Amino acid sequence: MNLLVLWIFSGAVIGIHGLLELSDLGVCDHRWTSAYAHDASGYPLAGSVSDLQTHILQGYKVQVQFSTSEWLTTFPVDEFTFRGRTICSSSMWFFSDNGTQIDTDAEWLPTLVCTNGEVSRLNYTTATWARPVGNNELQVNNEIRWYTKPTQCDSKPVYSQFVDGSKSYGSMAKLLRLAKWSELRANMRDRGFSFLLQNQKIYNNELVTAQSLNHVSLRYTPNAVKFNMEPFYSWLSVWSSNGRRDVSRWFLENTTLYSHNNDFVSLDWYGDQCWRRVYSTDRDGQATYGSLDELIQMVKLGHRVRVHFDGFNLKANGIRVVGDLVVAQTVEEYARRDNYPDYEAPFFNTRARVVYRLVHSSGVVKTYKYFLDNFALSESNERSKFAIDWMVDTRPWTKVYRTDASGQVTFGSIRDLEDAVAEGASVRLSIEQDELAGQFLTEADNIRTSFVNGEVYAQALKHVSDQKLQSVDEYILQSNIFRWSLMVSSGGVVAMNARRLASKIHLYDAISPTTNVTWFKNA
Ligand SMILES: *[C@@H]1O[C@H](CO)[C@@H](O)[C@H](O)[C@H]1NC(C)=O
Ligand SMILES: *[C@@H]1O[C@H](CO)[C@@H](O)[C@H](O)[C@H]1NC(C)=O
Ligand SMILES: *[C@@H]1O[C@H](CO)[C@@H](O)[C@H](O)[C@H]1NC(C)=O
Ligand SMILES: *[C@@H]1O[C@H](CO)[C@@H](O)[C@H](O)[C@H]1NC(C)=O
Repeated sequence: MNLLVLWIFSGAVIGIHGLLELSDLGVCDHRWTSAYAHDASGYPLAGSVSDLQTHILQGYKVQVQFSTSEWLTTFPVDEFTFRGRTICSSSMWFFSDNGTQIDTDAEWLPTLVCTNGEVSRLNYTTATWARPVGNNELQVNNEIRWYTKPTQCDSKPVYSQFVDGSKSYGSMAKLLRLAKWSELRANMRDRGFSFLLQNQKIYNNELVTAQSLNHVSLRYTPNAVKFNMEPFYSWLSVWSSNGRRDVSRWFLENTTLYSHNNDFVSLDWYGDQCWRRVYSTDRDGQATYGSLDELIQMVKLGHRVRVHFDGFNLKANGIRVVGDLVVAQTVEEYARRDNYPDYEAPFFNTRARVVYRLVHSSGVVKTYKYFLDNFALSESNERSKFAIDWMVDTRPWTKVYRTDASGQVTFGSIRDLEDAVAEGASVRLSIEQDELAGQFLTEADNIRTSFVNGEVYAQALKHVSDQKLQSVDEYILQSNIFRWSLMVSSGGVVAMNARRLASKIHLYDAISPTTNVTWFKNA
């Protein structure tokens, strides 16, 4: 109770400042602003760690930036641990490369950054199921900078619940609205842990359940956190508005189940108010709201996209626009049990299953579920039709740079791209490889400016292999599915690494010959 009173009070005080600051600008027009910068020993250089903490506790988006002797990198971070005066945050989304291309036998490089200046990296290969895990400290030069951007007009959670799932603050109706059409974040205020939610599933228009998936286990050190070594494991979590949480943990060394349990937690929910529904269809693909043209225009201008159907709200990781068909590929989801109203409805299966989907603007949703521990297809459904809502991130996404099929710059300059990296911007990419295949849009999981050759590189890692059907305007996932990962350069080179998910066999490293690449930023 004490805690609650305290945060409502401090929230109110901060809220007044927050509102004053934000009132000059719409919350969605806010630029990435450096909240805190410090050197590699944790010495503060600009801003303050408490500003950063306040922002995180108010549901802000965060990007981290640092440099080594070879490059300056910027990337979004998904989870935050508070330990004393130190904040640590991590991203899973780095593949090892040789400076210009992803390595043939790429290593995953989950990266943990702390405000005490420590940057640690795990490494484990993508090439086999059984693999040793390496643990390294990364030598960072100069400074580490934390950029933030608000997601709400006010500083309070949309909804807060006690451990037993009863309401302690806010509006469930508002949480339901944001869960349906937006992106959520959450704080476990009593544990000092904040995180992004990759997806939502709403049951019966009354229970919000949301998954947070990109975590590697951490251990406490006297004044920060480090990757946990004994054992190394990754964990999946699903959080519900009735207080339930389910956590499934997997050994990194062999992708076998470490442990799986559920409990009750109190939680503060935040919702990003900068999402707008632009198009809805009924289950036959007939428009019921907005226009397909507007959706296509927004997609082609670089905006992020989410889809809502059957109670699910999923992020479009890759988007194809082919003529007047939009196909969203979603890859950040794990299967729920779905036996609502049983309390386990949102829980993971004992053998957790990865869910990939192809959501078509024609109303067709193709769903594929794979066992996490061997990537065997467990279940697929290519026939489902749903009423679908399409939402876009209304923040100003601007085109900054474009190269044509011969690598010539046809818009902007490399300087503009370097500025995007330097100012902590989010970056998205449009790839046009073949006129018939249309345009493919994706997000950069990390971007960097190389000090070695002055080029800018983006890694885009979240795609699996789909293919167009001959007979109809629809896509399916290939039967022996592979992950394809891009490293795109400002020189116009699109390098692709492809590896099967079940056998782990390397398929190819390819340089796409004639590709137009457009870079968009949200500064
Ligand atoms: C990275 O590897 C590719 C493929 O082997 C090669 O063409 C390229 O020159 C390498 N880049 C560097 C910086 O070594
Ligand atoms: C992985 O970690 C090991 C052990 O710390 C280290 O020797 C190796 O260079 C690392 N590999 C990569 C790609 O970082
Ligand atoms: C997987 O790795 C963990 C951690 O090293 C180990 O304890 C466990 O026995 C391994 N499981 C199998 C099936 O090899
Ligand atoms: C690349 O861009 C040019 C000029 O905008 C266009 O004519 C061409 O069709 C594009 N190529 C592909 C593969 O889409």
